[in-house]
Amino acid sequence: MFRFLVILWLQLAGYSGLKWAERFQDNSGHMEVCSGQNIRLLWNFTLAQDEHVKDMVWTCQPEGNATELLASYVDDTFVPMSEFSGRLSHLQNGGIELSCATILESGNYSVTVNTVDNNGDETLYRQTAWVKVVDTPKTQDEQLEVRQEREAVRDDTSDRQWHVHLTCGHFFDRGHPAVDVEWKTPNGETLSSSYFHKGNFHLLLSNPVKGGNYTCSLPSLSPATRCLPPGSALRDDTIYVDEMAARFSIMEARQLQMQDDSQKDNLPRHDVIGKLKNETATLQSQMEDLKFRLDTATLRVSFHARLASSFTGTGTLTPFTVITNEGDAFSGTTGTFTAPRNGTYFFVASAGTDSSDKYVDMHLQKDGVDVSWALTEQYSHYYTMGSVQATLYLTAGQRVWLHSDISSSYYDSISTSFTGFLIHADD
Ligand SMILES: *[C@@H]1O[C@H](CO)[C@@H](O)[C@H](O)[C@H]1NC(C)=O
Ligand SMILES: *[C@@H]1O[C@H](CO)[C@@H](O)[C@H](O)[C@H]1NC(C)=O
Ligand SMILES: *[C@@H]1O[C@H](CO)[C@@H](O)[C@H](O)[C@H]1NC(C)=O
Ligand SMILES: *[C@@H]1O[C@H](CO)[C@@H](O)[C@H](O)[C@H]1NC(C)=O
Ligand SMILES: *[C@@H]1O[C@H](CO)[C@@H](O)[C@H](O)[C@H]1NC(C)=O
Ligand SMILES: *[C@@H]1O[C@H](CO)[C@@H](O)[C@H](O)[C@H]1NC(C)=O
Repeated sequence: MFRFLVILWLQLAGYSGLKWAERFQDNSGHMEVCSGQNIRLLWNFTLAQDEHVKDMVWTCQPEGNATELLASYVDDTFVPMSEFSGRLSHLQNGGIELSCATILESGNYSVTVNTVDNNGDETLYRQTAWVKVVDTPKTQDEQLEVRQEREAVRDDTSDRQWHVHLTCGHFFDRGHPAVDVEWKTPNGETLSSSYFHKGNFHLLLSNPVKGGNYTCSLPSLSPATRCLPPGSALRDDTIYVDEMAARFSIMEARQLQMQDDSQKDNLPRHDVIGKLKNETATLQSQMEDLKFRLDTATLRVSFHARLASSFTGTGTLTPFTVITNEGDAFSGTTGTFTAPRNGTYFFVASAGTDSSDKYVDMHLQKDGVDVSWALTEQYSHYYTMGSVQATLYLTAGQRVWLHSDISSSYYDSISTSFTGFLIHADD
Protein backbone atom coordinates (compact mmCIF):
# COMPACT_ATOMS: atom_id res chain seq x y z
CA MET A 1 0.00 0.00 0.00
CA PHE A 2 1.26 3.41 -0.86
CA ARG A 3 0.12 6.67 0.45
CA PHE A 4 1.24 10.24 0.50
CA LEU A 5 0.67 12.07 3.63
CA VAL A 6 0.57 15.73 3.14
CA ILE A 7 0.91 17.85 6.15
CA LEU A 8 -0.17 21.35 5.68
CA TRP A 9 0.48 24.06 8.13
CA LEU A 10 -1.97 26.70 8.89
CA GLN A 11 0.03 29.52 10.26
CA LEU A 12 -1.76 32.11 12.16
CA ALA A 13 -0.53 35.60 11.82
CA GLY A 14 -1.47 38.43 14.09
CA TYR A 15 -3.40 40.40 11.57
CA SER A 16 -6.16 42.47 12.92
CA GLY A 17 -9.49 42.86 11.21
CA LEU A 18 -11.33 40.31 9.00
CA LYS A 19 -9.14 39.47 6.04
CA TRP A 20 -7.56 36.55 4.19
CA ALA A 21 -4.15 35.60 5.47
CA GLU A 22 -1.72 34.81 2.70
CA ARG A 23 1.20 33.37 4.57
CA PHE A 24 0.76 29.59 4.26
CA GLN A 25 3.97 27.68 3.66
CA ASP A 26 2.63 25.28 1.07
CA ASN A 27 -0.41 26.42 -0.75
CA SER A 28 -0.78 23.46 -3.13
CA GLY A 29 -0.63 20.22 -1.23
CA HIS A 30 -1.07 17.21 -3.50
CA MET A 31 -1.98 13.77 -2.29
CA GLU A 32 -2.84 10.39 -3.72
CA VAL A 33 -5.00 7.89 -1.91
CA CYS A 34 -5.91 4.41 -3.00
CA SER A 35 -9.61 3.95 -3.37
CA GLY A 36 -11.19 2.34 -0.32
CA GLN A 37 -8.61 3.87 1.98
CA ASN A 38 -8.86 6.98 4.07
CA ILE A 39 -8.17 10.52 3.09
CA ARG A 40 -6.24 12.02 6.01
CA LEU A 41 -5.67 15.73 5.79
CA LEU A 42 -3.38 16.69 8.66
CA TRP A 43 -3.75 20.36 8.75
CA ASN A 44 -1.88 21.70 11.77
CA PHE A 45 -2.14 25.24 12.87
CA THR A 46 -1.02 27.22 15.87
CA LEU A 47 -2.74 30.27 17.28
CA ALA A 48 -1.16 33.48 18.33
CA GLN A 49 -1.35 34.12 22.04
CA ASP A 50 -4.37 36.32 22.02
CA GLU A 51 -6.19 34.40 19.25
CA HIS A 52 -8.78 31.69 19.41
CA VAL A 53 -10.78 29.86 16.76
CA LYS A 54 -14.20 31.26 16.15
CA ASP A 55 -15.32 28.77 13.51
CA MET A 56 -14.00 26.43 10.81
CA VAL A 57 -15.50 25.17 7.53
CA TRP A 58 -14.38 22.23 5.38
CA THR A 59 -15.26 22.06 1.71
CA CYS A 60 -14.50 19.86 -1.22
CA GLN A 61 -14.54 20.72 -4.90
CA PRO A 62 -14.78 17.41 -6.76
CA GLU A 63 -13.22 17.22 -10.23
CA GLY A 64 -15.49 19.05 -12.59
CA ASN A 65 -18.20 19.75 -9.98
CA ALA A 66 -19.27 22.58 -7.77
CA THR A 67 -17.84 23.07 -4.29
CA GLU A 68 -19.73 21.28 -1.58
CA LEU A 69 -19.71 21.66 2.17
CA LEU A 70 -18.18 18.75 4.13
CA ALA A 71 -18.43 19.90 7.71
CA SER A 72 -18.33 22.90 9.98
CA TYR A 73 -17.00 23.67 13.43
CA VAL A 74 -19.13 25.94 15.47
CA ASP A 75 -19.17 26.47 19.22
CA ASP A 76 -16.47 23.86 19.79
CA THR A 77 -18.50 21.21 17.98
CA PHE A 78 -17.57 19.36 14.75
CA VAL A 79 -20.63 18.89 12.52
CA PRO A 80 -20.20 16.83 9.34
CA MET A 81 -22.81 17.10 6.61
CA SER A 82 -25.28 14.26 6.79
CA GLU A 83 -24.00 12.48 3.65
CA PHE A 84 -20.55 12.20 5.28
CA SER A 85 -21.60 11.43 8.84
CA GLY A 86 -19.96 8.28 10.11
CA ARG A 87 -17.17 8.62 7.51
CA LEU A 88 -15.79 12.04 8.31
CA SER A 89 -13.99 12.84 11.54
CA HIS A 90 -12.07 15.77 12.92
CA LEU A 91 -8.48 15.03 13.88
CA GLN A 92 -7.03 18.13 15.55
CA ASN A 93 -6.12 21.66 14.61
CA GLY A 94 -8.24 21.58 11.45
CA GLY A 95 -7.20 18.12 10.23
CA ILE A 96 -9.91 15.74 8.97
CA GLU A 97 -10.12 12.11 7.90
CA LEU A 98 -12.61 10.73 5.37
CA SER A 99 -12.77 6.94 5.38
CA CYS A 100 -13.37 4.61 2.44
CA ALA A 101 -12.66 7.13 -0.31
CA THR A 102 -14.01 6.54 -3.80
CA ILE A 103 -12.65 7.93 -7.06
CA LEU A 104 -15.63 10.29 -7.18
CA GLU A 105 -14.21 11.94 -4.10
CA SER A 106 -11.10 13.16 -5.88
CA GLY A 107 -10.93 16.92 -5.66
CA ASN A 108 -9.63 19.96 -3.86
CA TYR A 109 -10.26 19.80 -0.14
CA SER A 110 -10.08 23.02 1.84
CA VAL A 111 -10.29 24.20 5.36
CA THR A 112 -11.17 27.77 6.19
CA VAL A 113 -10.40 28.97 9.73
CA ASN A 114 -11.88 32.09 11.20
CA THR A 115 -10.00 33.37 14.28
CA VAL A 116 -10.73 36.20 16.61
CA ASP A 117 -8.34 37.99 18.95
CA ASN A 118 -8.83 39.88 22.20
CA ASN A 119 -9.67 43.06 20.36
CA GLY A 120 -12.46 41.27 18.55
CA ASP A 121 -10.59 41.39 15.19
CA GLU A 122 -11.22 38.43 12.94
CA THR A 123 -8.86 36.77 10.44
CA LEU A 124 -9.65 34.13 7.78
CA TYR A 125 -7.13 31.45 6.85
CA ARG A 126 -7.54 28.86 4.17
CA GLN A 127 -5.54 25.82 3.20
CA THR A 128 -6.25 23.51 0.25
CA ALA A 129 -5.06 20.01 -0.60
CA TRP A 130 -5.47 18.41 -3.97
CA VAL A 131 -6.49 14.81 -3.36
CA LYS A 132 -6.51 12.18 -6.05
CA VAL A 133 -8.26 8.94 -5.25
CA VAL A 134 -6.62 6.22 -7.27
CA ASP A 135 -8.15 2.95 -8.36
CA THR A 136 -6.34 -0.24 -9.34
CA PRO A 137 -6.69 -1.78 -12.80
CA LYS A 138 -8.76 -4.95 -13.04
CA THR A 139 -8.52 -7.90 -15.40
CA GLN A 140 -10.88 -10.76 -16.02
CA ASP A 141 -8.81 -13.39 -14.18
CA GLU A 142 -7.32 -11.05 -11.57
CA GLN A 143 -3.99 -11.58 -13.24
CA LEU A 144 -2.08 -10.18 -16.16
CA GLU A 145 -1.90 -12.63 -19.03
CA VAL A 146 0.46 -12.41 -22.01
CA ARG A 147 -0.31 -14.47 -25.07
CA GLN A 148 1.32 -14.96 -28.41
CA GLU A 149 -1.36 -14.90 -31.08
CA ARG A 150 -1.31 -17.95 -33.33
CA GLU A 151 -1.20 -15.97 -36.53
CA ALA A 152 1.05 -13.13 -37.53
CA VAL A 153 -0.65 -9.83 -38.32
CA ARG A 154 0.11 -7.28 -40.96
CA ASP A 155 0.74 -3.75 -39.79
CA ASP A 156 -1.25 -1.79 -42.33
CA THR A 157 -0.81 1.48 -40.48
CA SER A 158 2.93 1.73 -40.96
CA ASP A 159 5.31 -0.76 -42.57
CA ARG A 160 2.73 -3.16 -44.09
CA GLN A 161 4.88 -6.05 -42.92
CA TRP A 162 3.85 -9.17 -41.06
CA HIS A 163 4.59 -9.27 -37.36
CA VAL A 164 4.48 -11.74 -34.51
CA HIS A 165 1.73 -10.49 -32.28
CA LEU A 166 1.64 -10.50 -28.46
CA THR A 167 -1.33 -9.45 -26.35
CA CYS A 168 -1.47 -8.54 -22.69
CA GLY A 169 -4.69 -8.33 -20.71
CA HIS A 170 -7.51 -8.92 -20.46
CA PHE A 171 -8.52 -5.64 -18.79
CA PHE A 172 -12.08 -4.72 -18.08
CA ASP A 173 -10.95 -1.64 -16.14
CA ARG A 174 -7.63 0.06 -16.64
CA GLY A 175 -7.88 1.80 -13.28
CA HIS A 176 -7.98 5.45 -12.34
CA PRO A 177 -5.95 7.08 -13.77
CA ALA A 178 -5.85 4.51 -16.57
CA VAL A 179 -2.64 2.48 -16.81
CA ASP A 180 -0.65 1.49 -19.88
CA VAL A 181 1.50 -1.62 -19.74
CA GLU A 182 5.14 -1.66 -20.71
CA TRP A 183 7.02 -4.47 -22.43
CA LYS A 184 10.49 -5.84 -21.83
CA THR A 185 12.20 -7.60 -24.73
CA PRO A 186 14.85 -10.34 -24.46
CA ASN A 187 17.40 -7.61 -25.24
CA GLY A 188 16.33 -5.74 -22.12
CA GLU A 189 14.69 -2.96 -24.12
CA THR A 190 11.54 -1.38 -22.74
CA LEU A 191 8.81 -0.84 -25.31
CA SER A 192 5.34 0.59 -25.16
CA SER A 193 2.43 -1.21 -26.75
CA SER A 194 1.65 -0.94 -30.43
CA TYR A 195 -1.99 -0.29 -29.58
CA PHE A 196 -4.80 -1.03 -27.13
CA HIS A 197 -7.94 -2.73 -28.33
CA LYS A 198 -10.89 -4.28 -26.50
CA GLY A 199 -9.18 -4.70 -23.15
CA ASN A 200 -5.87 -5.93 -24.51
CA PHE A 201 -2.57 -4.24 -25.09
CA HIS A 202 -0.99 -5.42 -28.33
CA LEU A 203 2.67 -5.54 -29.22
CA LEU A 204 3.82 -6.27 -32.77
CA LEU A 205 7.38 -7.59 -32.62
CA SER A 206 9.79 -5.96 -35.02
CA ASN A 207 11.43 -8.11 -37.68
CA PRO A 208 13.54 -10.17 -37.69
CA VAL A 209 11.91 -11.57 -34.58
CA LYS A 210 14.19 -12.07 -31.61
CA GLY A 211 13.29 -15.17 -29.63
CA GLY A 212 13.22 -15.20 -25.83
CA ASN A 213 11.23 -13.96 -22.85
CA TYR A 214 8.91 -11.02 -23.35
CA THR A 215 7.43 -9.46 -20.24
CA CYS A 216 4.35 -7.31 -19.97
CA SER A 217 4.12 -5.32 -16.77
CA LEU A 218 2.26 -2.47 -15.17
CA PRO A 219 4.62 0.48 -14.71
CA SER A 220 5.75 0.29 -11.09
CA LEU A 221 5.67 4.06 -10.66
CA SER A 222 2.13 4.64 -11.85
CA PRO A 223 -0.30 5.57 -9.05
CA ALA A 224 -2.79 2.87 -10.03
CA THR A 225 -0.08 0.20 -9.84
CA ARG A 226 1.10 1.40 -6.47
CA CYS A 227 -2.33 0.66 -5.03
CA LEU A 228 -2.03 -3.04 -5.92
CA PRO A 229 -1.41 -5.40 -3.01
CA PRO A 230 2.17 -6.73 -2.84
CA GLY A 231 2.72 -9.86 -4.94
CA SER A 232 -0.36 -9.17 -7.03
CA ALA A 233 -0.57 -11.36 -10.15
CA LEU A 234 -1.54 -8.22 -11.99
CA ARG A 235 1.96 -6.79 -11.90
CA ASP A 236 3.54 -8.70 -14.74
CA ASP A 237 3.53 -11.80 -16.92
CA THR A 238 6.14 -13.32 -19.20
CA ILE A 239 5.93 -15.37 -22.36
CA TYR A 240 8.67 -17.25 -24.15
CA VAL A 241 8.69 -16.59 -27.90
CA ASP A 242 10.29 -19.35 -29.94
CA GLU A 243 12.36 -17.66 -32.62
CA MET A 244 12.06 -20.39 -35.27
CA ALA A 245 8.33 -20.84 -34.80
CA ALA A 246 7.84 -17.09 -34.85
CA ARG A 247 9.76 -16.61 -38.07
CA PHE A 248 7.93 -19.53 -39.59
CA SER A 249 4.56 -18.00 -38.73
CA ILE A 250 5.61 -14.84 -40.57
CA MET A 251 6.70 -16.80 -43.64
CA GLU A 252 3.41 -18.64 -43.55
CA ALA A 253 1.46 -15.39 -43.35
CA ARG A 254 3.43 -13.91 -46.24
CA GLN A 255 2.81 -16.95 -48.35
CA LEU A 256 -0.91 -16.90 -47.62
CA GLN A 257 -0.94 -13.26 -48.54
CA MET A 258 0.79 -13.96 -51.84
CA GLN A 259 -1.80 -16.60 -52.66
CA ASP A 260 -4.49 -14.20 -51.66
CA ASP A 261 -3.01 -11.40 -53.74
CA SER A 262 -2.67 -13.58 -56.79
CA GLN A 263 -6.31 -14.59 -56.40
CA LYS A 264 -7.28 -10.96 -56.21
CA ASP A 265 -5.16 -10.38 -59.31
CA ASN A 266 -7.43 -12.73 -61.17
CA LEU A 267 -10.09 -10.12 -61.40
CA PRO A 268 -7.98 -7.67 -63.38
CA ARG A 269 -6.60 -10.61 -65.31
CA HIS A 270 -10.14 -11.50 -66.34
CA ASP A 271 -10.49 -7.96 -67.53
CA VAL A 272 -7.30 -8.19 -69.52
CA ILE A 273 -8.45 -11.43 -71.13
CA GLY A 274 -11.79 -9.86 -71.93
CA LYS A 275 -10.09 -6.87 -73.49
CA LEU A 276 -7.72 -9.07 -75.44
CA LYS A 277 -10.64 -11.14 -76.71
CA ASN A 278 -12.41 -7.99 -77.70
CA GLU A 279 -9.36 -6.60 -79.42
CA THR A 280 -8.80 -9.89 -81.16
CA ALA A 281 -12.38 -9.83 -82.38
CA THR A 282 -12.00 -6.23 -83.53
CA LEU A 283 -8.74 -7.00 -85.29
CA GLN A 284 -10.28 -10.04 -86.90
CA SER A 285 -13.18 -8.07 -88.29
CA GLN A 286 -10.83 -5.33 -89.47
CA MET A 287 -8.70 -7.97 -91.11
CA GLU A 288 -11.70 -9.50 -92.85
CA ASP A 289 -12.68 -6.07 -94.03
CA LEU A 290 -9.18 -5.42 -95.33
CA LYS A 291 -9.12 -8.81 -96.96
CA PHE A 292 -12.38 -8.00 -98.71
CA ARG A 293 -11.03 -4.65 -99.88
CA LEU A 294 -7.88 -6.32 -101.06
CA ASP A 295 -9.94 -8.92 -102.91
CA THR A 296 -11.90 -6.09 -104.43
CA ALA A 297 -8.81 -4.14 -105.39
CA THR A 298 -7.20 -7.17 -106.97
CA LEU A 299 -10.41 -8.69 -108.35
CA ARG A 300 -10.06 -9.48 -112.04
CA VAL A 301 -13.14 -10.24 -114.03
CA SER A 302 -13.09 -10.26 -117.80
CA PHE A 303 -14.12 -12.57 -120.53
CA HIS A 304 -14.15 -12.86 -124.22
CA ALA A 305 -15.93 -15.57 -126.14
CA ARG A 306 -16.88 -16.37 -129.70
CA LEU A 307 -19.95 -18.25 -130.73
CA ALA A 308 -18.83 -21.86 -131.11
CA SER A 309 -21.32 -22.68 -133.84
CA SER A 310 -23.88 -20.69 -135.79
CA PHE A 311 -27.10 -19.97 -133.92
CA THR A 312 -30.57 -19.67 -135.39
CA GLY A 313 -33.94 -19.10 -133.87
CA THR A 314 -34.85 -17.50 -130.56
CA GLY A 315 -33.35 -17.83 -127.07
CA THR A 316 -30.02 -17.28 -125.45
CA LEU A 317 -27.10 -17.29 -127.83
CA THR A 318 -24.99 -20.35 -127.09
CA PRO A 319 -22.59 -22.15 -127.11
CA PHE A 320 -19.50 -20.01 -126.95
CA THR A 321 -15.88 -20.83 -127.21
CA VAL A 322 -14.33 -19.07 -124.26
CA ILE A 323 -11.11 -17.30 -125.09
CA THR A 324 -10.61 -15.23 -121.95
CA ASN A 325 -12.32 -15.88 -118.64
CA GLU A 326 -10.59 -14.14 -115.74
CA GLY A 327 -12.64 -14.73 -112.62
CA ASP A 328 -14.55 -17.53 -114.32
CA ALA A 329 -17.78 -15.56 -114.39
CA PHE A 330 -18.82 -16.45 -117.92
CA SER A 331 -20.12 -19.83 -118.95
CA GLY A 332 -19.64 -20.76 -122.59
CA THR A 333 -22.18 -23.56 -122.34
CA THR A 334 -25.03 -21.37 -121.10
CA GLY A 335 -23.78 -18.16 -122.73
CA THR A 336 -24.42 -16.41 -119.44
CA PHE A 337 -22.29 -14.03 -117.39
CA THR A 338 -22.94 -14.11 -113.62
CA ALA A 339 -21.65 -11.12 -111.63
CA PRO A 340 -19.35 -12.41 -108.90
CA ARG A 341 -19.52 -9.12 -106.94
CA ASN A 342 -21.47 -5.92 -106.74
CA GLY A 343 -19.89 -3.54 -109.14
CA THR A 344 -19.92 -1.80 -112.47
CA TYR A 345 -19.33 -3.88 -115.58
CA PHE A 346 -19.03 -3.25 -119.26
CA PHE A 347 -20.31 -5.54 -121.98
CA VAL A 348 -20.11 -5.51 -125.74
CA ALA A 349 -21.19 -8.06 -128.34
CA SER A 350 -21.27 -8.02 -132.09
CA ALA A 351 -22.91 -10.41 -134.48
CA GLY A 352 -23.00 -10.88 -138.22
CA THR A 353 -25.33 -12.88 -140.33
CA ASP A 354 -23.98 -14.64 -143.34
CA SER A 355 -27.27 -15.63 -144.97
CA SER A 356 -29.67 -13.73 -147.18
CA ASP A 357 -33.00 -12.83 -145.64
CA LYS A 358 -31.73 -13.67 -142.20
CA TYR A 359 -31.72 -11.37 -139.17
CA VAL A 360 -29.57 -10.49 -136.33
CA ASP A 361 -32.05 -9.54 -133.62
CA MET A 362 -29.75 -9.43 -130.65
CA HIS A 363 -30.79 -8.16 -127.21
CA LEU A 364 -28.34 -7.65 -124.42
CA GLN A 365 -30.35 -8.57 -121.33
CA LYS A 366 -29.78 -8.12 -117.66
CA ASP A 367 -31.78 -10.77 -115.87
CA GLY A 368 -34.16 -10.92 -118.83
CA VAL A 369 -34.52 -7.17 -119.26
CA ASP A 370 -33.28 -5.50 -122.44
CA VAL A 371 -30.48 -3.04 -121.99
CA SER A 372 -29.26 -2.82 -125.57
CA TRP A 373 -30.61 -3.99 -128.93
CA ALA A 374 -29.13 -4.62 -132.38
CA LEU A 375 -31.22 -5.44 -135.44
CA THR A 376 -29.92 -6.10 -138.93
CA GLU A 377 -31.25 -7.95 -141.96
CA GLN A 378 -29.16 -9.26 -144.79
CA TYR A 379 -30.87 -8.68 -148.12
CA SER A 380 -28.29 -10.04 -150.47
CA HIS A 381 -24.80 -11.39 -150.23
CA TYR A 382 -23.73 -8.18 -148.49
CA TYR A 383 -22.62 -9.08 -145.07
CA THR A 384 -24.38 -7.18 -142.28
CA MET A 385 -23.40 -6.79 -138.62
CA GLY A 386 -24.84 -5.32 -135.50
CA SER A 387 -23.58 -4.74 -132.01
CA VAL A 388 -24.86 -4.16 -128.48
CA GLN A 389 -23.06 -2.58 -125.53
CA ALA A 390 -23.77 -1.42 -122.04
CA THR A 391 -22.16 -0.27 -118.87
CA LEU A 392 -24.14 -1.96 -116.10
CA TYR A 393 -24.26 -1.94 -112.37
CA LEU A 394 -24.75 -5.51 -111.23
CA THR A 395 -25.18 -6.92 -107.78
CA ALA A 396 -23.53 -10.25 -107.12
CA GLY A 397 -25.51 -13.03 -108.82
CA GLN A 398 -27.19 -10.91 -111.44
CA ARG A 399 -26.80 -12.33 -114.92
CA VAL A 400 -26.24 -10.93 -118.37
CA TRP A 401 -26.71 -12.75 -121.68
CA LEU A 402 -27.47 -12.28 -125.39
CA HIS A 403 -31.01 -13.05 -126.46
CA SER A 404 -32.25 -13.67 -129.98
CA ASP A 405 -35.85 -12.59 -130.42
CA ILE A 406 -36.71 -13.72 -133.93
CA SER A 407 -36.95 -17.18 -135.45
CA SER A 408 -35.59 -16.15 -138.87
CA SER A 409 -32.27 -15.18 -137.32
CA TYR A 410 -28.85 -16.38 -138.13
CA TYR A 411 -25.78 -15.68 -136.05
CA ASP A 412 -22.60 -16.49 -137.80
CA SER A 413 -20.12 -18.17 -135.46
CA ILE A 414 -17.11 -16.48 -137.03
CA SER A 415 -18.42 -12.93 -136.64
CA THR A 416 -20.34 -13.22 -133.35
CA SER A 417 -18.48 -12.54 -130.15
CA PHE A 418 -19.29 -11.46 -126.62
CA THR A 419 -16.97 -9.51 -124.32
CA GLY A 420 -17.30 -8.12 -120.84
CA PHE A 421 -15.27 -6.96 -117.90
CA LEU A 422 -15.51 -5.49 -114.47
CA ILE A 423 -14.77 -1.79 -114.34
CA HIS A 424 -14.74 -1.68 -110.53
CA ALA A 425 -16.27 -3.61 -107.69
CA ASP A 426 -17.95 -2.01 -104.68
CA ASP A 427 -15.81 -1.60 -101.52
C1 LIG B 1 1.74 20.45 14.82
O1 LIG B 1 2.68 21.51 14.88
C2 LIG B 1 3.33 21.58 16.15
C3 LIG B 1 4.22 22.79 16.13
O2 LIG B 1 5.10 22.81 15.04
C4 LIG B 1 4.11 20.30 16.39
O3 LIG B 1 4.71 20.35 17.66
C5 LIG B 1 3.16 19.13 16.34
O4 LIG B 1 3.87 17.91 16.47
C6 LIG B 1 2.41 19.12 15.03
N1 LIG B 1 1.46 18.08 15.09
C7 LIG B 1 1.32 17.17 14.07
C8 LIG B 1 0.27 16.16 14.25
O5 LIG B 1 2.05 17.17 13.08
C1 LIG C 1 -7.24 21.93 -7.43
O1 LIG C 1 -6.35 23.00 -7.26
C2 LIG C 1 -5.28 23.05 -8.13
C3 LIG C 1 -4.34 24.15 -7.68
O2 LIG C 1 -5.07 25.33 -7.42
C4 LIG C 1 -5.79 23.25 -9.51
O3 LIG C 1 -4.74 23.27 -10.43
C5 LIG C 1 -6.71 22.10 -9.86
O4 LIG C 1 -7.29 22.27 -11.12
C6 LIG C 1 -7.81 21.98 -8.81
N1 LIG C 1 -8.56 20.74 -9.07
C7 LIG C 1 -9.86 20.74 -9.14
C8 LIG C 1 -10.49 19.39 -9.33
O5 LIG C 1 -10.54 21.73 -8.99
C1 LIG D 1 -20.92 15.73 -9.88
O1 LIG D 1 -22.14 15.85 -9.17
C2 LIG D 1 -23.19 15.05 -9.66
C3 LIG D 1 -24.44 15.40 -8.85
O2 LIG D 1 -24.15 15.43 -7.51
C4 LIG D 1 -22.82 13.58 -9.54
O3 LIG D 1 -23.84 12.77 -10.09
C5 LIG D 1 -21.52 13.35 -10.33
O4 LIG D 1 -21.09 12.01 -10.16
C6 LIG D 1 -20.45 14.29 -9.82
N1 LIG D 1 -19.25 14.13 -10.64
C7 LIG D 1 -18.06 13.97 -10.12
C8 LIG D 1 -16.93 13.84 -11.11
O5 LIG D 1 -17.88 13.90 -8.95
C1 LIG E 1 12.37 -17.32 -19.62
O1 LIG E 1 11.67 -17.32 -18.41
C2 LIG E 1 11.57 -18.58 -17.78
C3 LIG E 1 10.73 -18.44 -16.55
O2 LIG E 1 9.65 -17.59 -16.81
C4 LIG E 1 12.98 -19.06 -17.42
O3 LIG E 1 12.91 -20.35 -16.87
C5 LIG E 1 13.83 -19.10 -18.69
O4 LIG E 1 15.16 -19.41 -18.36
C6 LIG E 1 13.81 -17.76 -19.37
N1 LIG E 1 14.47 -17.88 -20.63
C7 LIG E 1 15.34 -16.99 -21.06
C8 LIG E 1 15.95 -17.27 -22.41
O5 LIG E 1 15.60 -15.96 -20.43
C1 LIG F 1 -15.77 -4.91 -76.54
O1 LIG F 1 -15.79 -3.62 -77.15
C2 LIG F 1 -17.08 -3.10 -77.36
C3 LIG F 1 -16.95 -1.81 -78.14
O2 LIG F 1 -15.66 -1.26 -78.03
C4 LIG F 1 -17.74 -2.88 -76.00
O3 LIG F 1 -19.04 -2.37 -76.17
C5 LIG F 1 -17.79 -4.20 -75.30
O4 LIG F 1 -18.32 -4.00 -73.99
C6 LIG F 1 -16.42 -4.81 -75.19
N1 LIG F 1 -16.52 -6.13 -74.61
C7 LIG F 1 -15.71 -6.54 -73.61
C8 LIG F 1 -15.90 -7.92 -73.11
O5 LIG F 1 -14.84 -5.80 -73.12
C1 LIG G 1 -24.55 -5.92 -102.89
O1 LIG G 1 -25.67 -5.12 -103.13
C2 LIG G 1 -26.87 -5.57 -102.54
C3 LIG G 1 -28.02 -4.73 -103.01
O2 LIG G 1 -27.69 -3.36 -102.92
C4 LIG G 1 -26.68 -5.49 -101.05
O3 LIG G 1 -27.82 -5.95 -100.39
C5 LIG G 1 -25.49 -6.32 -100.68
O4 LIG G 1 -25.22 -6.18 -99.28
C6 LIG G 1 -24.26 -5.93 -101.46
N1 LIG G 1 -23.18 -6.85 -101.16
C7 LIG G 1 -21.97 -6.47 -100.77
C8 LIG G 1 -20.99 -7.55 -100.49
O5 LIG G 1 -21.66 -5.29 -100.62
